[in-house]
Amino acid sequence: MDWGLKNRLSRIIKPETGRTVMLAVDHGYFLGPTTGLEEPRKVIEPLLPYADTLMPTRGVLRTCVDPTADIPVVLRVSGGTSILGNLADEGTTVSMKDAVRLNVAGVALSIFVGSELEKQTLLGLARLVDEGEEHGIPVLAVTAVGKDMARDARYLGLASRIAAELGAHFVKTYYCEDFERVVRNCPVPIVIAGGKKIPEKDALELAYNAITRGAVGVDMGRNIFQSECPVAMIQAVRAVVHNNEAPDKAYELYRTLAEESKKETVGAVAT
Ligand code: R5P
Repeated sequence: MDWGLKNRLSRIIKPETGRTVMLAVDHGYFLGPTTGLEEPRKVIEPLLPYADTLMPTRGVLRTCVDPTADIPVVLRVSGGTSILGNLADEGTTVSMKDAVRLNVAGVALSIFVGSELEKQTLLGLARLVDEGEEHGIPVLAVTAVGKDMARDARYLGLASRIAAELGAHFVKTYYCEDFERVVRNCPVPIVIAGGKKIPEKDALELAYNAITRGAVGVDMGRNIFQSECPVAMIQAVRAVVHNNEAPDKAYELYRTLAEESKKETVGAVAT
């Protein structure tokens, strides 16, 4: 791995703890105005101080993130489909030249292992890795899960391992039972997606289980920006990821911070 690529990767996965809290806000690339992300700038800005990395699309990055913001970006560069079509039929949506111009720390694309379009997405990954290597930009492979695909260690382990074999520098997958096996069989770091919104306590437990079983972090979206108090939630997630905080303690932190933030809002309205 060359210096530039290592340097960028260390901006994403923090060397101090070997962990990362990635804030995923790329959902609109196939979901359009996702619940909680209707106004991306308003959602993203207050969360940035607590995120190690931001994962947006090119459009949201350009329009909703201040270019002076001190945040490494892992840019979503695959898409071309919508929730109304065949999700697996993705292609590359951003050239490496533009990714470099946007000064990204990494690029991300989805692979659809087991779908009828797996070859297209896997060869897309291999091409992106070639370009990433050429420009010193790490590639995050996202193991997308279609409607008919199981979220078990066998499937996620298969998809994660193939991503690593094709050269992905890190992999984003889902947490599952026997997650240690997925981690053990994948020679590059793994981050987990949060998935659909679940109660805050459960999401913190999910993060804790993933971290203690070998994930280097989370790339979490809906369980942060759809939380009742996103700023409190991301701080609680940070406590789990970087300090190994136990889920009940992290949930206590969430409740305290959410309460404080409520008081501040009431105070601001009253004055
Ligand atoms: C989906 O493919 C997108 O990459 C999302 O960024 C990803 O699913 C993570 O977000 P969430 O925590 O909402 O699942």
